[in-house]
Amino acid sequence: MSSSSRSSQVEEVRIHEVYAKRQGDVRYSWFSPGHLFIIQERERQLLGLLKKKGIAPLEGKVMLEVGCGTGYWLRQFINWGIRPSNLNGIDLLPDRVDEARRLCPEAVRIECRSATELEYADDTFDLVLQSTVFSSVLDHNMRQQIALEMQRVVKADGAIIWYDFHVNNPLNPNVLGVKKQDIIQLFPDCHIDISRVTLAPPLVRKLASFSWLLCSVLERIKVANTHYLGTIQKL
Ligand SMILES: C[S@@+](CC[C@H](N)C(=O)[O-])C[C@H]1O[C@@H](n2cnc3c(N)ncnc32)[C@H](O)[C@@H]1O
Repeated sequence: MSSSSRSSQVEEVRIHEVYAKRQGDVRYSWFSPGHLFIIQERERQLLGLLKKKGIAPLEGKVMLEVGCGTGYWLRQFINWGIRPSNLNGIDLLPDRVDEARRLCPEAVRIECRSATELEYADDTFDLVLQSTVFSSVLDHNMRQQIALEMQRVVKADGAIIWYDFHVNNPLNPNVLGVKKQDIIQLFPDCHIDISRVTLAPPLVRKLASFSWLLCSVLERIKVANTHYLGTIQKL
């Protein structure tokens, strides 16, 4: 076994252990004003991006989400017009895959496997989404393998959609921010168009119940934004 596949196996075990401890975190409740602000602002920006890039309307597009978790984004994309039969998701963790299958329409194909080895042919998808997967992966080789697979399966005129944080969380050693320079290295020979979004979640959680407007203004100033949202397209 090569040292890179051994390090990927160790990383998979670590990811399983981290997510086993993360169940039921109240910070991610829809009834928390801070979480609601983050979700709604992110959706507004993503819909704007899909429109600006000429990706919308979504009907007829074929999409894969790597690291789909419990299928939140798969269901959102159905709301926004993609056909369930054109949607695919994969995730490493069997319990998340089970939950995604339970919550999504049956026509959505959801598989339990690692994004390091996708079973799809080259140039299959119009859209390949990753949302906060790379920051969950600390191992450089695994990150690189996932990036290569995403580039392989996206069509030449398709787009990778990127949403992930670029700062480290000092309170959470199990995540690692992905800087712009890291994204450039992961996706060479690609056009990368990303912007800073999502006001720092700890700040939003404190402010949102007092002033939605203040959160909106701060997010537009961007200095305290912690994530990148954008597209990555093959040159
Ligand atoms: C923070 S969650 C994000 C879930 C979903 N993308 C979202 O935004 O709601 C990260 C997900 O990536 C998955 N993941 C991490 N490494 C992976 C890998 N190598 N292959 C597939 N999924 C992976 C985890 O199991 C987890 O469900």
